[in-house]
Amino acid sequence: MKLKTALSLALKKPPRTSDEFEKLPKHVAIIMDGNGRWAKKHKLNVSRGHRQGTETLREIIRHTDDLGIGALSLYAFSTENWNRSEEEVAALMQLILDFFASEIDELDAKNVRILILGDKSRLPEKQRETLIEAENRTRKNTGLRLNIAVNYGGRAELVMAAKEIATLVRNGDIRAEEITEQTISDHLYTRGQPDVDLLIRTSGEQRLSNFLLYQNAYAEFVFPTVLWPDFTVHDYDQALDAFAHRNRRFGGRV
Ligand code: FPP
Repeated sequence: MKLKTALSLALKKPPRTSDEFEKLPKHVAIIMDGNGRWAKKHKLNVSRGHRQGTETLREIIRHTDDLGIGALSLYAFSTENWNRSEEEVAALMQLILDFFASEIDELDAKNVRILILGDKSRLPEKQRETLIEAENRTRKNTGLRLNIAVNYGGRAELVMAAKEIATLVRNGDIRAEEITEQTISDHLYTRGQPDVDLLIRTSGEQRLSNFLLYQNAYAEFVFPTVLWPDFTVHDYDQALDAFAHRNRRFGGRV
């Protein structure tokens, strides 16, 4: 076995050249869709689908970190998800607690910095405290930026930014004419992070569903048909490979 391959295996990292690394997205966003259909297919309760989806989530976070991708944003719970049954909402809330209880030590040890995107104030107290604790504990970490959207809506995020900027103008901190695209970026949850390069939505649905509306402006979209609980590291690599072959022009001609 070649030394490079052996080393890569030992590090659990695929052997990527610097050229391949260059072609990796700096920020990946994922809409983890299909848990309900997976559960139905297996004649299981929908909560079981979400639980299986959490297993996928663990693997995908690890792989993202192994590859050295800078930021990963995951859509865990949207502002619209409150409309689901009480039982399903409770199951998702419990999964959030379980996820942090089991993962926080490893994530912190791996230098991952956790950020919650969304309005935490509407969450049950336990969940809110757990999420704030995870953010505080990992605040100084400098590795993977792991953004987890909980009670998140893209339009609500833009309204929040608009209100903050309006307050700055009212207080005379900046003039209205000075507002730029950067000013808006600086008032989003993801401030300081690069825009999304690659958006993956599993299960074949091809919608943005109010996820990171501003940050996805120039993202490349990949829509694997596989349901989220069945999404593997191999599927992820295929999406990354598709991204590497896209010709990104950002509105220009090159
Ligand atoms: C969409 O599938 C998925 C969700 C609404 C929740 C995703 C949440 C997790 C994977 C786990 C919880 C997150 C954390 C951070 C622990 P769907 O139920 O809409 O699927 P369907 O369209 O097939 O019904």
